[in-house]
Amino acid sequence: MSAVVVQDVYKKFGKPGDPFWKKVLRLNGIEAASNGHNGNNNGHNNNGHSSNGKEILGETAVPTQAEGLNGPVNGKPHAKAKETEKKMVVAVNHVSFTVEKGEIFGVLGPNGGGKSTLIRLISTLLLPDSGKIYVFGYDVEKSVMKVQQIINRVSVEASFFKKLSPMENLLYGARLYGQDGRQTRRQVVEILTRLGLEKRAIYSPMEEMSRGMQQKVAIARALLTRPELLLLDEPTTGLDPRSKREVQAVVQEMRAQHGTTILLTTHDMNEADMLCDRIAIMDSGRVVALDTPAALKRLIPPKDGKEATLEEVFLELTGKKLVDPEEESEE
Ligand SMILES: Nc1ncnc2c1ncn2[C@@H]1O[C@H](COP(=O)(O)OP(=O)(O)O)[C@@H](O)[C@H]1O
Ligand SMILES: [Mg+2]
Repeated sequence: MSAVVVQDVYKKFGKPGDPFWKKVLRLNGIEAASNGHNGNNNGHNNNGHSSNGKEILGETAVPTQAEGLNGPVNGKPHAKAKETEKKMVVAVNHVSFTVEKGEIFGVLGPNGGGKSTLIRLISTLLLPDSGKIYVFGYDVEKSVMKVQQIINRVSVEASFFKKLSPMENLLYGARLYGQDGRQTRRQVVEILTRLGLEKRAIYSPMEEMSRGMQQKVAIARALLTRPELLLLDEPTTGLDPRSKREVQAVVQEMRAQHGTTILLTTHDMNEADMLCDRIAIMDSGRVVALDTPAALKRLIPPKDGKEATLEEVFLELTGKKLVDPEEESEE
């Protein structure tokens, strides 16, 4: 039985018009703080050094890729006429694929490609508009509880009790899954040490940690519940090279030691190439190619005897460049 079956899944979002108070602020030329309505921005990260006002502008200014649904989007804050109009975004556009048990499967694509939406659909956090998703044979719409028991998800911005230590956060998480406290303590130390966290950090408040360290704690929390399917949404984005390698090593270990099926998203070509058995290249909500890294690279002819890189394949397939991951680094 396949670990994940995604059948012709379609999901669009209607962007709601701004609430009354935001419009008043805008008309007076004041930028309002983002309320993180798109779910990517759930307000739990405490490294909010990116300007919130800028994010709002960014949101409206991003051209949506939904074909035929909307014209050019006006990103100016004072554009009145278009403001209340509903803008539709097709986040996942008739996507189908299958992930086999024990596979490390990558979804590679640029920002806004639909990767996180796909992960949320698989993890029962969103419902598809049409299409079907099965996790180990369970329909994600009909067997929500069952699916939630066998999966765990690490999102880009994991939430923690910031005043508490990793140990306290993880014990709390494990208890929710009904796990034994004493055994969990041992496992927490073991997993976090393997991920490169110092002993001292395990007992210090989360708010004192870098984003890289917090990300490792988020992954450790997911691993503690021994999920059959682990969904990792950009697990290494914003990490320094060393932390990246540590996280990647743990992903490989999970599969080697426990046969965990892993579905991860990334915009890092090298990571996808090195880590994944198969890769779905996603752009504007569609899967534009799906194969092993080697086969994908054979899609375009070698230059000067050297095989093509995934970057070149992506450019060839979409006419676009993938985002440089370094650009996004928040460290
Ligand atoms: N909750 C939401 N409401 C409205 N639009 C959304 C929401 N979530 C995602 N989107 C839009 O759907 C598209 C795909 O987003 P996402 O799945 O987050 O892409 P990725 O994870 O590949 O960067 C983007 O255009 C994004 O703005
Ligand atoms: Mg995302």
